[in-house]
Parts: sequence; C-alpha cells; structure tokens
Amino acid sequence: MAQRAKRDDPPTPDPGTKLRGRALGIDIGGSGVKAALVDLATGELASERIREKTPHPATPDAVAAVTASVVARTLQGTRVGKGLAVGCGLPGVIKDGRLQTTANIDPTWLDISAEEVIGAAIDRPVLAINDADAAGIAEVTYGAARGEMGTVLVLTIGTGIGSALFIDGRLVPNTELGHLELHGKDAETRVSGASRERRTIGWKRWSLEFDEYLDRMEAYLWPDLIILGGGVSKEMARFEKSLTSRAPVRPAIHLNAAGIIGAAYAAASAAPSAGPARSASPARSASPARSASARPAGPSAAAMEAKTSPAQPS
Ligand code: BGC
Repeated sequence: MAQRAKRDDPPTPDPGTKLRGRALGIDIGGSGVKAALVDLATGELASERIREKTPHPATPDAVAAVTASVVARTLQGTRVGKGLAVGCGLPGVIKDGRLQTTANIDPTWLDISAEEVIGAAIDRPVLAINDADAAGIAEVTYGAARGEMGTVLVLTIGTGIGSALFIDGRLVPNTELGHLELHGKDAETRVSGASRERRTIGWKRWSLEFDEYLDRMEAYLWPDLIILGGGVSKEMARFEKSLTSRAPVRPAIHLNAAGIIGAAYAAASAAPSAGPARSASPARSASPARSASARPAGPSAAAMEAKTSPAQPS
C-alpha cells in the first residue's frame, strides 16, 4: 500500500486570512538578526525594528544569544503576554522546525531543532520558517503581491537568493530556487546581492546575468508575477530596463522588514487562537515529532495574550 507523505513543512497561512493584534517577528539572516512587533491588521511594524550583527561563526548558541538580546530589546517596555505568537525566519529549508540546509549559516544547525533553540533562548514558543517564505508571505498578505492570484514568485536577493512560490495566494514551502545552476555555478554565488559586491561588477553586468536567471525561472515555472525583495530591490531603477521577462517584475514593498512581518503573520495564523487558519492547516499536528518541539502557544497562553494582542480573524 502506498504510504502517506509525511507533512512536516511549517504551516502555510490560508490565503486572505485576516488577523488582528500583534505578533513578534524575528529574521535571522547571514548578516543581521532583526526583530519587531508587527500589527497583524495592517502589516506595519508596531515597535522599533531592532537589529544586531549575526555572529560569526553563526552557531546555534551564538545566534541564540544574539536573538535573546534582540528580542529583549524589542519587547522592553511593551506589555505582551506569554501567548504572543513568535515567528522566526531562518536562511534554509525548514522541516519539522529544523534547518535541513545551511548555505548561509553554520552547519551545526543541522543537528538541532531551531524552534527549540530559539524558543529556549527567548523563553517563548517559536515557529521556524524559511526566511524567503516569510518575506513572500508578507508581500502576498500586505505588500506588492496583495490579492494577486495565479503563480507569484517572490525572490529575495541579499546575502543569498531566497525564493517563495505562491499559487493563488498559497505558499509552496521551501522552494530553493536560488540554488539553480547558472553557467555551471550555483546561481546565488553569481547573482545574489552579496555576490555582486564580491565580484565587484556593476549593475549593467549584474542585471544581464540576473535576467538570464529570471529566464530560467520563466522556463520552469511560468510565473504570472515576479516580486523582487532583499537589498537589491531598492536599486530597481538601476537595472529594471535590462529585465526581459514575460511576467511583470515589481519591487517588494516591505524591503528589509518583510521577513519579520511574514514570520509574525505565519506564527499568528498557526496559533490556536487564529481559528480558521489553524483549522484549515492541519500539517502541524499531523507530525508526531512536532509535539516535542516548541509549539505556537497553547490555548491558555493564547487566551492570556488575547487580552493585550488578540491574534484572531477580524
Ligand atoms: C538559502 C535559502 C534562503 C536564502 C536567503 C539561501 O542560501 O538556501 O533557504 O532563503 O539563502 O537567505
């Protein structure tokens, strides 16, 4: 008999789910660890965005210590309960709350549960999600791809290249399209933002190569819309004329806050108090291994938080 596939991806928010209240987003990247509270009704930041440098080597202990400091500073003086939903974006494939790939973070993350390590550091349950998936969720929910149906591809071009693919607003988690081959090399080593600087090439040369990369995306996926996020999207005026894709290409709206916003939204929509989003996303409870890791808040904690920042459909 055919075996059922094990579903251990982070839960994908239901398209169009409206939430309110606040949640905490954390974005752990190759160069910075950032966090902020997010207003779930608007997608705006509800606190100052705090950033500290990612330690090198970016081992779990070192990153957890920096994350604890960033979160403590973010929450200082705020009145949030224990049930605050917390989402954390990390630069790799996430299955069962664990990193499965570590292109831009220390490989010792492969041995451990990211949800448990970050959860223990900040003493709150944490939902771990790929950083580009988080940024994509922010753009689809509150940003440049809001309300767009069809196939939407969000690319984050920073230290690496991250990808988030949406079909009618629903995320296909953990796509790793930054690692497609381009001229015999891993694409992100040629055309990420960091690679452009490392290779000291100008925007013209970079944009011609990046256009080839987008050609590959079009050949395989035929997206209806492409959103560019990450550092280079701020510079789109410098290179958009070189892009020849059939699909329109738009810059992301939330830029360097997108990862924070999307992680917060994903965690809140997976939390027990989120109602429809949770009941329509059974992936979490389908995996027995999940119960051992730091979960989104249980009902009592969620109820406590609801007094100050309810994460519920409005
Ligand atoms: C990782 C992706 C990540 C991207 C952006 C890539 O190297 O493989 O998972 O989304 O960098 O951080």
